[in-house]
Amino acid sequence: MALIIDGKKVSAEVKEQVRLETLELAKKGIKPGLAVIIVGDDPASRVYVNNKKKACEAVGFLSREYALPATTTQEELLSLVEELNNDKEINGILCQLPLPKGLDEKAVIEAISPLKDVDAFHAINVGKIMIGDYDFLPCTPAGVMEMLHSYKIPVEGKNCVVIGRSNIVGKPMAMLLLHENGTVTVTHSRTKNLADVTREADILVAAIGKPKFVTADMVKEGAVVIDVGMDRDENGKLCGDVDFENVKDKCSAITPVPGGVGPMTIAVLMKNTLKACKIQNNC
Ligand code: GUN
Repeated sequence: MALIIDGKKVSAEVKEQVRLETLELAKKGIKPGLAVIIVGDDPASRVYVNNKKKACEAVGFLSREYALPATTTQEELLSLVEELNNDKEINGILCQLPLPKGLDEKAVIEAISPLKDVDAFHAINVGKIMIGDYDFLPCTPAGVMEMLHSYKIPVEGKNCVVIGRSNIVGKPMAMLLLHENGTVTVTHSRTKNLADVTREADILVAAIGKPKFVTADMVKEGAVVIDVGMDRDENGKLCGDVDFENVKDKCSAITPVPGGVGPMTIAVLMKNTLKACKIQNNC
């Protein structure tokens, strides 16, 4: 049976550090502020946004939610982003994705000031990550790296295979593993003989969005398996992209769903917001 990597525990440690630093800032009269925009009524987005708000309150941040109807126009959304870009109380702006059909996600991401882009989705921040000179790291991939560090799982020289090539997870995940000297392969829906590739992985990161997609036969004995998925199984129960029950007996370490990567994403968001606040206040 593998080591079960406890994302809740690592996340709590990261958030505690953020809380302590926030207390220090309070002595100078500074309070980090995060604005979260949610458009429409996607139930999964609502859960994520509620968790982000709760985390803000727990670490002592100002948290503002902007819940807009699905009928919101692109102009209205861009005008809110512009208002928040100029709002001195707000250090970080996050627009929960996906947006309802008809709204242009790319335009919204590019409208957020790169200094307040705590998701690290803006092209400027993506480019900075690419060259290894960044202020913010994208929350989910950075959360995965924090878990690997916390459990002292080395990346250098390891075969790292990422399944999925999204801008939010797959691509930046590959870059962060590369920064730590992993030998990285990114696979996707057109990859030939996927299982042959994944079986070579010392560290396997699943970010596909398909329930229990990674089965035991796709995993090398003793691999470290990171599950970024947040899916529903045939009974509507929350599960990941990895067939946890069968894979856990083959790998050396694995993240559960829930309680693995999910809490880490939020912890990194808190770290990024604190950092944004410090940069904007020159401290
Ligand atoms: N939707 C799914 N994951 C994320 C995330 O990390 N940030 C934002 N803004 N939207 C998301």
